[in-house]
Amino acid sequence: MPDELVNLTIDGVPVAVPKGTLVIEAAKQAGVLVPHYCYHPGLPVAGVCRMCLVEIEKQPKLAIACATQAAEGMVVQTQSPAAKSARTGVLEFLLINHPLDCPICDQAGECELQDFTFQEGRAGTRYSPDYPKRFNPVEDFGPDVLYVPNRCILCTRCVRFMEDVAQEPVLNVSERGDRAFIGVHPEARLDHPWAGNVVDLCPVGSLLSKDFLHKARAWELDKAASVCTGCSQGCNVTLDTRDDIVVRVRPRSNLEVNRYFICDHGRMNYRWMNRGDRIEAPLVKRGGELHATDWQDAFERVTTVLRGAGGRVVALVSPRASTEALFFARELFRAGGRGLEWTGAFQVVMGEEAPLPGVPDLALRAERAPNGRGAELLGYGREYAAALAAAESAAVVLVLDEPDIPVRTAGTLIYVGTVLPERARDAEVVLPIANVAEEDGTFVNRDGRVQRYAQAKPAPGMARPGWWVFSELSAALGQGDPVASAAEAFARVAQTLEPFRGLSYEQLGFTGKPAAAAPVPA
Ligand code: SF4
Ligand code: SF4
Ligand code: FES
Repeated sequence: MPDELVNLTIDGVPVAVPKGTLVIEAAKQAGVLVPHYCYHPGLPVAGVCRMCLVEIEKQPKLAIACATQAAEGMVVQTQSPAAKSARTGVLEFLLINHPLDCPICDQAGECELQDFTFQEGRAGTRYSPDYPKRFNPVEDFGPDVLYVPNRCILCTRCVRFMEDVAQEPVLNVSERGDRAFIGVHPEARLDHPWAGNVVDLCPVGSLLSKDFLHKARAWELDKAASVCTGCSQGCNVTLDTRDDIVVRVRPRSNLEVNRYFICDHGRMNYRWMNRGDRIEAPLVKRGGELHATDWQDAFERVTTVLRGAGGRVVALVSPRASTEALFFARELFRAGGRGLEWTGAFQVVMGEEAPLPGVPDLALRAERAPNGRGAELLGYGREYAAALAAAESAAVVLVLDEPDIPVRTAGTLIYVGTVLPERARDAEVVLPIANVAEEDGTFVNRDGRVQRYAQAKPAPGMARPGWWVFSELSAALGQGDPVASAAEAFARVAQTLEPFRGLSYEQLGFTGKPAAAAPVPA
């Protein structure tokens, strides 16, 4: 049964929202952002900061928009003189003790106290410059969290996250009044596997990530929508880059997958994206040594190998590769009717599972790879040991960015990857590809949700996306036209395979869509 709707107006804009919706959320539908600090859609309502005061017709006093439900016929004014003056007063109180150390604060540029003060705060303080502001030393709360009490506005988001979402109540509000601060349990640390979310939740620079400390100013960062590669959950993230180096991973909200959160494992899983020891040019074997060459020469060498091959071909692929790259890698061998017997397999590193108890179906998954499900839908198997054994007698072994390479066999090894493991030096041809931060692509998470990620920085040297490499090779073998973009590559996947039928980049947007459950024919 559809939700019962109530009609109201907010700043003169009529909106209809499901019964029970909070005024602060209804206002978003009217295009109005009500200033707020303690309210967060992923946390229980506290109503402690009073920053969201609005005027509601026929109500004798101002109301907090975060704890008032929209009702039929309600008329809300967020910009009335009374509402604005009340919020200006709240800001003035908050700034009595807040230090004006924005020039050295990591949050500057993305601080809600800065933003709302700029928007509707007083032009100056009424306090004497001699007023001694509250001072408490910085505290080390946990593996990646520092607490700067002077900047804390006591919104309690961090306390509520640990209590209700992580369900490990190690934080509290200690003391009262102007002496209040966030206390940590004397025998505990803020070391829950999802604890880093308190840094994102803190609206000011009071909780800071040690990892990101002083790495960049907010306005120096470029942002790209991406998908975490830390496990099969497929949390939506933003990659922040400074001068083409990934410096921070933050959650991007997706109510179907990770709501507003990411785990600390995923948050820290980015340094490899900046590795300097990358393969930057195609390499071909001459006189027993690998030599740099151009793409055309490398493609010619691969096509010569494949045209001459008969019998078994084994592809050992990484479950971190994009769906598009995995698709064209398989097409290279499966299509064309050259009578090759094809086996494709992948292996997944396993770890401990760590759920976020307050959010159903959200956990750091034991399977530490983002696209194992995608590889399966494309016909790759999990029998890696068997595939390794089969590789010993195969005519051609293709390795796609997988460090576990079999010892060279009679057959020819073609290595396509981001970095060069020692055994890949045995390859006949080495082709350099972009990593996840350097290309557009999709992953399929454990629940079968197809999700896009976007390029955040350029690939080094001559490295190109995996889908480009394999589609060019397929075209060179006379198997159709190459594709010119990741979107086109995905369109080919959707045309060919039932689980992806009807999907497109446009349709997926940046929050994804479920793949059909139908299995791929062998
Ligand atoms: S540390 Fe940040 S999130 Fe926690 S109460 Fe203070 S301002 Fe709020
Ligand atoms: S749960 Fe998995 S996908 Fe989500 S942030 Fe953690 S490692 Fe990344
Ligand atoms: S946001 Fe409403 S009281 Fe804090």
